[in-house]
Parts: sequence; C-alpha cells; structure tokens
Amino acid sequence: MSPRARQRVFKAVVTLAVAAGLIAINGPTIVSAGRDALHDYKINSQDYKQRAGHWSMLDVPEHLRVNALHAALLHTGKVLIIAGSGNDRKQFDAGKFKTILWDPETDTFKRIHTPSDMFCAGHAQLPDGKLLIAGGTRRYEKLEADVKRAAGAMTIKNESPDGGPLTLEKGTEFVSPEGLAFESTQKVVVDPALKEIGKGGQTTVTASSTEVWVEAVDEGNTPVVERPTQFTISGTGRKSDDLYGVAISLTRAKQDYWGDDKSYLFDPETEKYERVQNMALARWYPTLVGLKDGRVLSVSGLDQFGRIVQGHNEIYDPQTKEWEAQPQLKRTFPTYPALFLMPGGDLFYTGSNAGYGSDTVGRHPGIWDLDDNSFRKVPGLREPRQTETSGSVLLPPAQDQRFMVAGGGGIGESHKSTARTDVIDVSAKEPHFEPGPDLEKPVRYPNMVITPDDKVVVTGGSTDYRGKGDSDVLLCQIYDPSKGDITRVADPTVGRNYHASALLLPDGRVITMGSDPLFSDSTNTVPGKFEKRIEIYSPPYLFQGDRPKIGSGPEKVTRGDTVRFESPDADAIQSARLVRPSAVTHVTDPEQRSVALGVTRAGGGVDLTIPKSAGLMPSGWYMLFVSSDDGPPSKARWVHVR
Ligand code: CU
Ligand code: CU
Repeated sequence: MSPRARQRVFKAVVTLAVAAGLIAINGPTIVSAGRDALHDYKINSQDYKQRAGHWSMLDVPEHLRVNALHAALLHTGKVLIIAGSGNDRKQFDAGKFKTILWDPETDTFKRIHTPSDMFCAGHAQLPDGKLLIAGGTRRYEKLEADVKRAAGAMTIKNESPDGGPLTLEKGTEFVSPEGLAFESTQKVVVDPALKEIGKGGQTTVTASSTEVWVEAVDEGNTPVVERPTQFTISGTGRKSDDLYGVAISLTRAKQDYWGDDKSYLFDPETEKYERVQNMALARWYPTLVGLKDGRVLSVSGLDQFGRIVQGHNEIYDPQTKEWEAQPQLKRTFPTYPALFLMPGGDLFYTGSNAGYGSDTVGRHPGIWDLDDNSFRKVPGLREPRQTETSGSVLLPPAQDQRFMVAGGGGIGESHKSTARTDVIDVSAKEPHFEPGPDLEKPVRYPNMVITPDDKVVVTGGSTDYRGKGDSDVLLCQIYDPSKGDITRVADPTVGRNYHASALLLPDGRVITMGSDPLFSDSTNTVPGKFEKRIEIYSPPYLFQGDRPKIGSGPEKVTRGDTVRFESPDADAIQSARLVRPSAVTHVTDPEQRSVALGVTRAGGGVDLTIPKSAGLMPSGWYMLFVSSDDGPPSKARWVHVR
C-alpha cells in the first residue's frame, strides 16, 4: 500500500485500539497486525472493489519469469511478452533471448524461440493480425571507464567506379597523416563509385560511402582524433586518393547501445517469429506506427553505432514484406516518439518520447502531414521540457480526436518530473493543449490503458529517474475524459518504473509487467533488479454486476458496413466499442485506440455500424465490447476489420 494509505489506515486502527484499551499492553504488535488485517479487509470488500477495483498477482512459474520489456496483445487473446536479452548483458553475451506467450483464458505460458535480441525494438499490429517487430540491440553500451582505446565510426570513401565491390576484412588498418593507427572491428563490403553519363555525354562519378567501427591499435589517449581527418587504408593495393577513410571523432567517450536492423513478424497462428527484410537503417528505440493504408512507418532510434538517427524514416509494406527508405519524409524525433495516426492520414506527435535525443530538436508537439512532410506545431503544452518518459493516449472514443499527455520528466538522468496532464482536441481548427487535472504525484513512466467504459487507467511510474531514491509511485488513478476528472482507485503493490508496460485484456482486466530500477534501495547504493512479477488490475466495472453478453456475429467486417450481433441482453445494450489491441514498450503505444460504433437494438440482437475512415480505424483485429447504460462492459469478441 502507499505511504498515504498506510497512514490513513494506521490512524483508524490506533483509534480502535485505544478504544479497546489494548494499546497499553502490546501496542506496536497489535497495531501492526491489526493494520494489515484491516487493510486486507478493506481492499477485499465488495463495496471497495465496486468503487476502486482490485489488484491481484499473476502466478508465473519460476522458469517462465522474464524481464518483460515489450508486450502485445494478439487476436488469439494471448499476450506476447518479449524480453530479448532483458537488459542483461550476460544474457546478451550468451546469445540468450527470451519471449513468452501467456494465454489469459487458460492461464498457461509458452516459451517462444527468439532468434535475435529484440530488446528495445519497435512493434506494430499489421492488418492481417501479425505483429511486426523491427530493430533491437546489436551491442550493449560501453561505459567510459571501459573504453580503453579511442574508437568511433570511420567512413570509407571509394572514388573509383572500377573493380566491383571490395571486401575489407576485420582488422583492416587505417593510418592518419600523423601515424595514428586504427583497426576495423568488422568485415565490410565497399561498393565501387557510381559512374553516370549525362545527356551531353559528360561523366559524373559519385564516391561510395561505407561506415565501419574502428578502434585504436594503441591503448590510451594518444590516438584520439577530434577533427575531420583523412586516413590511408593499408593492404588494399589501391591508390590512397581513390580509397581512403574519413573520421570526425575517434575518442574514448562512452559508447551507446548499437541498434539492429533485423525485422520479424510474429504469427499468432503458428506462434513463431518469421524473419523479413532488414530495415534500411539499424534502430534501437524506434517507434513503429501504422498508417491508414496498412503500411508501417519506422521513426527515430539509435543507429548501428549508437548515434541518434537524424530524420531518416522508412516504411514497411506488408504486401512485399520489405522496407523502403523515405528520404522525402525527413524529420527528426527523439527516440520512441509518441506518434498516432489521425483520420486524414496525418500523424500526431504528442511530444512524449522515451530514451534519447536532442534537448531541443524534434520535441515540440505537432501534426505531421506525410503527403508533403510539413509539420504544424500545436501550442499550449505545459511543462514542455518535461515530456521525456511522459504517457500519451488517444482518449476514448477515438472519434473525439482528443489526446492526453500525462506526467513525464526532464531529459537524461534528470530528477525532475511533473504531475501535469494536458488534453488537446486535434480536430479543432486551431488545436491547443488545455490543462487537465493533476495526477496525485509527479511521475515518469506512467502506464496508461484505455478501458471499454471510455476511461483511462493511469498506473505506476516513479517520481525520479528509474525509480531512484525509492520513488516508485504505488498509485492507480482513473481518468474520465467525459468529465475531465481523475479518481484515485486501489493501489498496486508492485512498483513499475522504467521498462514497464501495461495493456487491456479481452476480459476487461489490465495487466502490468516489467520495471527496471537503477537501484533497489532509497540511498541508491544497491544495484536494482528487474521486476519479474506480473500484477493484474480488475477495474471497478468487473464488480458491478452482470456483464452483457455478446453472441454470434460476423468475424470479418468492412468499414462502413452495418453488421448484426446476437445478444440475449440486446435490449439493454447502449454502446459498442472496437478496441485495438496494444503493442507497448517504454510508455509508447501508438496502437491502442477505442472506436465508437453506431448501435441500433433490434429484437435479440444489435446492429452495429462500423465507421468508414481507415485513418480512424486502420485495418486489423479489434476487440468488440458492448455495454448497457452505465453498466459494466461485456467481455470482448474478436473482430477483423478491413
Ligand atoms: Cu530500453
Ligand atoms: Cu490554453
């Protein structure tokens, strides 16, 4: 329980004990035992659950507990939980990558063979129900203390169009005019220069450019390079003005995580990963956001050598299973930018992100028009310098086009965090953030989950960076977009800071998992441990009486159609929602959205009208929930929207 709740209950128990004359005999013991018993009694009472919901721990067998970094709900109702190496260097070095699949229906777990390190990849739901996963970890970071030799990226320039591709083996030597020697750490293939003959017969030759990571031959600071320098390449037998290296900075600075370019589909039917074409660029911490035509845009991340991607974005086409660079969509964002598809096909960037990025570049919220790459900034977000690790959600129903930004903190390892929530209607002529209610505490990494009753569960997070100073926020609140208010509900018992996630299950519960504290004590001396426990929140509606039942109906529906579903409770059904399943990591979930359907009751069933707009409701699988007026929502039925 939270310190605040503890205090409140404690007071009540002291009063009881004094009245009973017990405190003089064995005060502390009785008070403490009584406190727990009273708290247990309170949170388990039907009356309390009806108002505040209930938390319970998921019993996960020891050998199936993983560092849950990524979570996606599949249309089979199962939850894909991806750890990859789990932010555990030993696992990475051993090549051990993990994924588990949990079936909430049967409460069973299955281990999934994981072919590469998807730790800190991006993901998106595809129109056919497969999950696209792209990027991840190619190499762990190297802290400054561990960098013994100057190192960095070397660009190999080949100005000769002749001789075909040239292989430079690992260990190829690069020497500066001053005699500083560096060696490549991988094998690379260098293309010949591009020779073109113009209409007038003139020839232009464009040198090819290939990057390789190099390390100084000698340890220490003497080989450090801090200005653009040209290097000769040893042992190639080529002229040094044809083939040479150029480096801008080869230093002993900290080396960030390296991104991976691998890309996979997870197939919910076969429950296997399938490798597809690599991305054009390696990316660590990219956001993958679905477009209205079913293609997926991959944005930002750290590249193959841990540098932030400078505005190079690319698109995956599910038809060809290929990625294509989009030079016309050049736009720079910090890593894991919160991007959401809008009805017209534009993307809304709320300003939220997680991880890395410039202090200033690409952090302003706005609407990105993909047709002409224009970006229209939207004003009014308070605490604009505390959007890092804030939560963002398209408020239900999606038709209202209102977004909330909640919490967040300063860039980097900042102590700062905010309790601010702001709301914006992006369908307005002049969209403008307006203040929402404050959260109970300032918080980074708040998990935000849309529920089928058009509310948002906001839970967990920490006040300081990665839970430092024992700052986990053991609070859960429910935001009601229709009223604009926020209500404190039952407290979770497990802290969730960095690398935590939460999503809505088809039965209406909310699963929370992961958390990666830097330290495990309040004085920040004992290293933290990845939180493997999974806790599940049952919102108040699960204790508010009988849920309406939704019977048979079409499994495939087309946008714009009106379709009939049988229901024994048809007379009472007032509303229907199609909720897109989450694919979430690092407080970033471009998927979750709840779309309102038109409802007509007609003897023994309901006729539901599916909206026309693919930007509002992109193709894919959705959870159909129906509700009576103010009553609890049904369990979901899966519907495939085309
Ligand atoms: Cu991460
Ligand atoms: Cu205003």
